[in-house]
Amino acid sequence: MRIFDAHAHYNDAAFPPEELDSVLKNAFSSGVTHIINAGTDIETSKESIALAGEYAEIYAAVGIYPHECIKIADKNATLDELRSLLKHDKVVSLGEIGLDYHYDDTPKEMQKEFFDAQLSIAEELGIPVEIHDREAHGDTLDILKAHKNARGLMHSYSGSYETAKELIGIGFIISISGPVTFKNARQSVEVAERIPLEFMAVETDSPYLSPVPKRGTRNDSSNLVYTVGKIAELRNVAPEVIAETTRKNALTLFGIKE
Ligand code: NI
Repeated sequence: MRIFDAHAHYNDAAFPPEELDSVLKNAFSSGVTHIINAGTDIETSKESIALAGEYAEIYAAVGIYPHECIKIADKNATLDELRSLLKHDKVVSLGEIGLDYHYDDTPKEMQKEFFDAQLSIAEELGIPVEIHDREAHGDTLDILKAHKNARGLMHSYSGSYETAKELIGIGFIISISGPVTFKNARQSVEVAERIPLEFMAVETDSPYLSPVPKRGTRNDSSNLVYTVGKIAELRNVAPEVIAETTRKNALTLFGIKE
């Protein structure tokens, strides 16, 4: 089975440098053919590009995460730097960007301003985005609708089936992660069951969100088999069908040729 992990953070401190190579090689030998490693600010975006330079299987997303906006002193200089990072060969996405209303350490207006500005850059450059939306489904959808040429991936999607249909309608694919395997999962199970397979991707969000039976431990891309297995069970198809279709969807979205 070949799998595309559409969103991970291997620059996270949960992966000490001396362990990272064996974690990644284990994932590749378990069938993971591609990983999009996402940045959350300029520094981690640069680290992401460096990691992508070391492994053929890894591609980078670069962007400013909602709760990093408050730390930025000069918005225009930061966005200019982001533009230059986006020109790198192995950068295939602008992300992760979006809105997060779970914690209130960054004002909503500031989050929206950065989200909006980064979506405009993505539209201008024709590059797909990776969207983080936590407890901000309404505002996220409104802002995405205002950017008619934006397209991309709804990372670790946690909204309703109805909203997923709207997002698909405006050019987004829905990325399913570990929580679909959780006992109390309801909305994400419905989404994984009902959305058309040609608009689905899978991801780990490593080191977070480990699927059952690895829940609570550090996540890595080799655990994607559990998420794929759960989706296959829900849809009553072979896991290989889920793995290969989501892989093709991601390859197409990110413009990666094999
Ligand atoms: Ni993430």
